[in-house]
Amino acid sequence: MRYFPLFADLAEADVLVVGGGEAAARKVRLLCKTSARITVVAETVTEELRGLAERGAIALLPRAFLARDLHGQRLVYAATGDGVCDGAVSRAAKARGIPVNVIDAPALSTFITPAIVDRDPVTVAIGTEGAAPVLARQIKALLETLLPANLGVLASRARDLRDGVARAVVDPRRRRRFWERLLRGPFRRAVLSGAQNEAGRILAAELEDEHRLTHATPTGRVTLIGCGPGDPDLLTLRAVQRLQEADVLVVDRLVDAKILEYARRDAERVFVGKTPRGPATSQAEINRLIVREAQAGKAVARLKGGDPLIFGRAAEEMSACQAADIPVEVVPGVTAAQACAARVGLPLTLRERIRQFAVVTGASAEGEPDFEWPALLAKDAAFAIYMGIGNAPLLRRQLLSAGADAATPVVIVENGTREGERTIATTLADLTDAVAQHAVVSPAVIFVGLDWAEAGLCRPAFVIVHRRARRPAIERPLERRAANTEALT
Ligand SMILES: C[S@@+](CC[C@H](N)C(=O)[O-])C[C@H]1O[C@@H](n2cnc3c(N)ncnc32)[C@H](O)[C@@H]1O
Repeated sequence: MRYFPLFADLAEADVLVVGGGEAAARKVRLLCKTSARITVVAETVTEELRGLAERGAIALLPRAFLARDLHGQRLVYAATGDGVCDGAVSRAAKARGIPVNVIDAPALSTFITPAIVDRDPVTVAIGTEGAAPVLARQIKALLETLLPANLGVLASRARDLRDGVARAVVDPRRRRRFWERLLRGPFRRAVLSGAQNEAGRILAAELEDEHRLTHATPTGRVTLIGCGPGDPDLLTLRAVQRLQEADVLVVDRLVDAKILEYARRDAERVFVGKTPRGPATSQAEINRLIVREAQAGKAVARLKGGDPLIFGRAAEEMSACQAADIPVEVVPGVTAAQACAARVGLPLTLRERIRQFAVVTGASAEGEPDFEWPALLAKDAAFAIYMGIGNAPLLRRQLLSAGADAATPVVIVENGTREGERTIATTLADLTDAVAQHAVVSPAVIFVGLDWAEAGLCRPAFVIVHRRARRPAIERPLERRAANTEALT
């Protein structure tokens, strides 16, 4: 981030706009939303600017810019469209330490004006550091449709209530949750629909509830949040909500750092990652930690990769909470198999062909994993192996000796939706070789029995196809030459 976003207080501040054309008028229009004292310096001005000057909304100096115009100014805009003149304004402002913006010239500016969604007093500012103003405008258009036109009414009402609520709900954490409830629930709906008396009644009831709860024993809660495979776009809306409400985040290794951006900045963060065959916080410690934090009255968000209920040790954590009488909620997430299959366009079931799809683990806490492979090898079945990379040779051997066809298609998706994503298509016979040769690492999902061709689809071009080079059979020289020629055609 090069440009740090800030909101400048322009109440009764002096702001100078140099230039009198349409570009200058656009800035003046924006500045008129504040109570800044605006001075425009320009030899000629648009009708709009002239009208504003006549009504006393701006001061007009009908002449060329002079350095002394900068005296006492909080901000300066240069919008003459003349490079020499704009450059002179920029140099003079910089020399006096006054923030300056030259329209369409970031190199001459010390600040830029973002695209704005205005729901006064709520203002959303969108910037792309000048990289893609059109994108900023698209985001603005999207937000304009998402935010109620009278959102400002809700913010103003909240501002009026702020001091009273602070006196009534003294504990800052409880107060934050109180506001979260108020600004999301029936109070919000009543204010936005103009039912102010109804809003008043709801507020009184909420305050009464809060008073009662404050004098009860503090109870926190635990939410197991499925954070998906990595890409934050795959978070559910509820996951985002719970992340924002959380006081403490207890974070697994496979949770992408980008997901934490959705949490409050002041939420505590505890990392409890388990690396395959590496250092780990024990499950018992994690259970104790989430219970202890919730007992202290905090909203604990337990962040897990994928879905919490799939190979996520959710049962142990839920049971620890239940034993301590702590409310526990599960927010589902997109599990790795679904996300990886979607990335590579590989259907997990096929009409009349694949009627069963299973997820299995390729690791075991106690020695070698040993599965009922024949059940998974039914003709109409396919499955995804999680945590199977380290045991790929063993899994291959077990599957082959359980009767699997060596030519069974295998697709490995490593780092699905994350940086370093790779997909390798091979066969069960070549699984070990593919993992070794391409140095596949965790996290990766191994799909067994799924193939694009079978589904009538084209394999995506980015997929790496791995076939182990077979040692040629001992042949007579003439035959070998013929075989090699074929391999080259
Ligand atoms: C402990 S399990 C957790 C599974 C998780 N709860 C889920 O629903 O996806 C970890 C395994 O999930 C798979 N996995 C998780 N994230 C992945 C990703 N982004 N790409 C590929 N595999 C992933 C890998 O097999 C990894 O070893």
